[in-house]
Amino acid sequence: MSFIFARFYDKCMKATEDACLMDWRKELLKNVDGKLLEVGAGTGASLELYPKNSSLEIFLCEPDQNMRSQLIEKVEDQNLTNVSVLSCPGEKIASEDDFYDYVFVSLVCCSVNDIEASLNEIKRVLKSDGHFIFLEHVAAINGSSRRKWQDRLNFFWRKLAGNCHLNRETEQHIKNAGFTIIEIKHESMRKAFSLVRPTIRGLAKLT
Ligand SMILES: C[S@@+](CC[C@H](N)C(=O)[O-])C[C@H]1O[C@@H](n2cnc3c(N)ncnc32)[C@H](O)[C@@H]1O
Repeated sequence: MSFIFARFYDKCMKATEDACLMDWRKELLKNVDGKLLEVGAGTGASLELYPKNSSLEIFLCEPDQNMRSQLIEKVEDQNLTNVSVLSCPGEKIASEDDFYDYVFVSLVCCSVNDIEASLNEIKRVLKSDGHFIFLEHVAAINGSSRRKWQDRLNFFWRKLAGNCHLNRETEQHIKNAGFTIIEIKHESMRKAFSLVRPTIRGLAKLT
């Protein structure tokens, strides 16, 4: 991810965060406890929304140095003592097996190089009774005009937006990885560029 993209990321996302993302994050994270890993935590958009339980231990992994430096700054500014920052990618999570009660991703499955490897790693580090929480923008319905434009512009968008794919069928990837989706909502991401508006958010468990 370029320095420029990272530098302006929060500013570019502000309208969308205010319009819907903050509320969605809050709702998804309200019951988390124990050990939680956030993969691709970016600049820390969800940091303030985690519950303040003393029993919650948060691990944030962010492989991009330019995003991670902003993340570390926010952790330090907020004096968060229950947060550790890691630099590993989703494809190779630096953790033992069966370690986390929760793994959370937001707007990350679109950007990882290898979504199958990343989901397999999430499975590996999640406890057998753990929960996988996701909030992702995804491919539009096959055959729709939005999907055709997502397919056409995907190559260029990836170059501009830190490897973000417009047309990932993330719900199917989650199922293929062996998760059972127990809650899912499909909703349009308001105040966002038209081609990234279709989203899914919800909860999955290991089968
Ligand atoms: C669109 S940003 C989302 C950031 C944050 N999760 C949020 O909701 O604001 C995508 C993030 O995924 C990270 N990322 C890209 N490739 C990754 C990988 N292979 N493993 C983990 N994170 C990755 C990027 O560095 C970036 O911080």
